[in-house]
Amino acid sequence: MANPRPAPDNAPFDVAAVRADFPVLDQTVHDCPLAFLDNAASAQRPRQVIDAISHYYRHDHANVHRGVHTLSHRATDAYEGAREKVRAFLNAQSTREIVFTRGTTEAINLLASSLGQSIAEGDEILITHMEHHSNIVPWQLLCERTGAVLRVVPIDQAGELLVDDMLNMLNERTRLVGVVHVSNALGTINPVETIIKAAHDREIPVLLDGAQATAHMAVDVQALGCEFYALSGHKMCGPTGIGVLYGREDWLQKLPPYQGGGEMILSVSFADTVYNKLPYKFEAGTPHIAGAIGLGAAIDYLTTLGMDNIAAWESQLLDYLTARLAAVDGIQLIGTAAEKAGVQSFNIDGIHPHDLGTVLDHKGVAIRTGHHCAMPVMEFFGVAGTARASLAFYNTPAEIDQLIDALAVAQEILA
Ligand SMILES: Cc1ncc(COP(=O)(O)O)c(C=O)c1O
Repeated sequence: MANPRPAPDNAPFDVAAVRADFPVLDQTVHDCPLAFLDNAASAQRPRQVIDAISHYYRHDHANVHRGVHTLSHRATDAYEGAREKVRAFLNAQSTREIVFTRGTTEAINLLASSLGQSIAEGDEILITHMEHHSNIVPWQLLCERTGAVLRVVPIDQAGELLVDDMLNMLNERTRLVGVVHVSNALGTINPVETIIKAAHDREIPVLLDGAQATAHMAVDVQALGCEFYALSGHKMCGPTGIGVLYGREDWLQKLPPYQGGGEMILSVSFADTVYNKLPYKFEAGTPHIAGAIGLGAAIDYLTTLGMDNIAAWESQLLDYLTARLAAVDGIQLIGTAAEKAGVQSFNIDGIHPHDLGTVLDHKGVAIRTGHHCAMPVMEFFGVAGTARASLAFYNTPAEIDQLIDALAVAQEILA
């Protein structure tokens, strides 16, 4: 297949040296070098993260906050140190605004549960047609419980939000706007500043689902001005099972707790239980201490590389990926917004995405196939699923070439 454009070769960091930090990348799959292009599902971890977790378990593990002994102090310092790293990474004003959760899904469920207690019949929650299921279903559950109404902002064929429609859908009954910052299915980077401003003009709080944003661009919650921001550690080179809900302090103060148990209380009696201060009010039970420490190490890693450098390299890779995919016979690119992060969904005439993914795996290329937990997006584009290649800063043009070569093989076998 003719190569429509030269491969980018001016990364702002040494990609080979970066790859050497990721042991998992150095392997063959079915006798081919692994080309890992499934980063939107979960990114890989550098040895710095693996080492931080291992060090913690080897030397420092104890339960946090309540111990007087040395290991408990060390574990607490490391856990709270990770919270400070998240705060700095998001530029939140205070660590009181950083609530550790299991991931984006739990962060959104936390908010839906706590905010939900003040939602009444006829109130509206406004989300968009391109949300991940984790920013749809918690709100549907809330609407079922309360009689509130879930309203959905439409998208267009490029996979962009119809922002004017969105602005018209805001009204005096809207209690929250929930928007995905970067779409996992389409790669669209949404115009969140415009959306936040319009919502704030009506004093409506905004939740951004940042699961696909925080590994790929600098995020400053104070500059954005959003009230809530959710992220997952495993999408940004950290461990699975750890994530964050950022909540502006005035909002977290007034929201009721999510789960009850240890840690989230100051005192308990059968007559009266007093909740803990922020952020512990929202962290019931023993937390995922190693997960938070691993996330802190991942943040150190990303910060050392520089989020602007990461964004710059991934943007070059995306341009190359898109140009090469667009030149494939019979391809349909899904998600062609003007502002995009390193995700490209596609289908090839006459080939089921799962079959495509299987052949690609035999050529060492890992992509995701299916509905990407965004079934309404699939429905909008009239497809059951797509193949999706998604990039990270450690990817190379050679891996994109490997994908394109593997697609040619798949077409030979399957089309
Ligand atoms: C945009 C988006 N939101 C939310 C999630 C859910 O993240 P998690 O499964 O880590 O909770 C994902 C995961 O793919 C996602 O891509």
